[in-house]
Amino acid sequence: THSLRLGVAGLGTVGAAVVRMIARRADALAAASGRPVRVSAVSARDAARDRGLDLAGVAWFDDPVALARSGEVDCVVELIGGAEGPARATVEAALALGKPVVTANKALLARHGPALARAAEAAGAPLAFEASAAGGIPVVKALREALAGNRISRVYGILNGTCNYILSRMELEGLTFEACLKDAQALGYAEADPTFDVEGFDTAHKLAILTSLAFGVELDAEGVSVEGISAITPLDLHMAEELGYRIKLLGVAEATPAGIEQRVHPTMVPRSSAIAQVMGVTNAVTIDTDALRELTLIGPGAGGEATASAVVADIADVAAGRVPPAFGRPASALTNPVRAEMQRH
Ligand code: HSE
Repeated sequence: THSLRLGVAGLGTVGAAVVRMIARRADALAAASGRPVRVSAVSARDAARDRGLDLAGVAWFDDPVALARSGEVDCVVELIGGAEGPARATVEAALALGKPVVTANKALLARHGPALARAAEAAGAPLAFEASAAGGIPVVKALREALAGNRISRVYGILNGTCNYILSRMELEGLTFEACLKDAQALGYAEADPTFDVEGFDTAHKLAILTSLAFGVELDAEGVSVEGISAITPLDLHMAEELGYRIKLLGVAEATPAGIEQRVHPTMVPRSSAIAQVMGVTNAVTIDTDALRELTLIGPGAGGEATASAVVADIADVAAGRVPPAFGRPASALTNPVRAEMQRH
């Protein structure tokens, strides 16, 4: 069988970790997917930067769209980031040629997910995004595949590692918000523009992806009400502690009689609860269903290796040809959450 030749667009923290993981796990990946998988091309902004990668025999592209269109690339792995610009152009170029796309880009999906899913469907090309929500936690697969027999009533959790890291260190070490944010940036957890993290938008993007998968509704990031953590002070954390609570930034989606409600805000959670124990860059997702009652998945939510773990899982699925529709069902079968609300009034 012929090998799956990957074009990796973007060699930041995640891209570099993906290239390393594919080399390290080449034998296991081939065994799991039934064919060899290799990186045949990469692109990044700065060709001169030393990333400590062995790129011998790998084609270099300055332009990710050219990489996507290259005859040496069967599957495009988009790790550039950002809802517009080169990331969007790269994904669109790949899908237009019917090439499978694996992406970690939650901002792109939040803004263009429905259109991209329709393009993927029309082209018969898989669009896979396990890494886009809750980093290393396989929650996309859980919602889309493993929980098919469940009726889901609520999904909520800690979806931004940077915010949870900041809140944890502010509380445990008495550090300032600014000092914690600087450390999160130095560790490679924060977004290029950390406003996305601390103002709750990154959580909202991820929540909107999970909502679509959990409830079979069209992704609607605009419909999420959002409040971040930038106004949280050490005094707030202390007061919460006095009352037996911890403050966590939660994303919550639930089925209400009026439709699907989506919101992101700092939340007081009882210190004895499972979610209050989740500290640092770790994420947690709780899924309430009729059959399981409550399922909680906890794991690393950001960072190169953890995110690469999810990207590589998608690559194995693409190689094996086992990728379901992007949001778990054909785009035409997704209902509109707003429409559900309007019907009632
Ligand atoms: N900035 C994100 C976070 C990266 O801190 O969770 C992972 O999506």
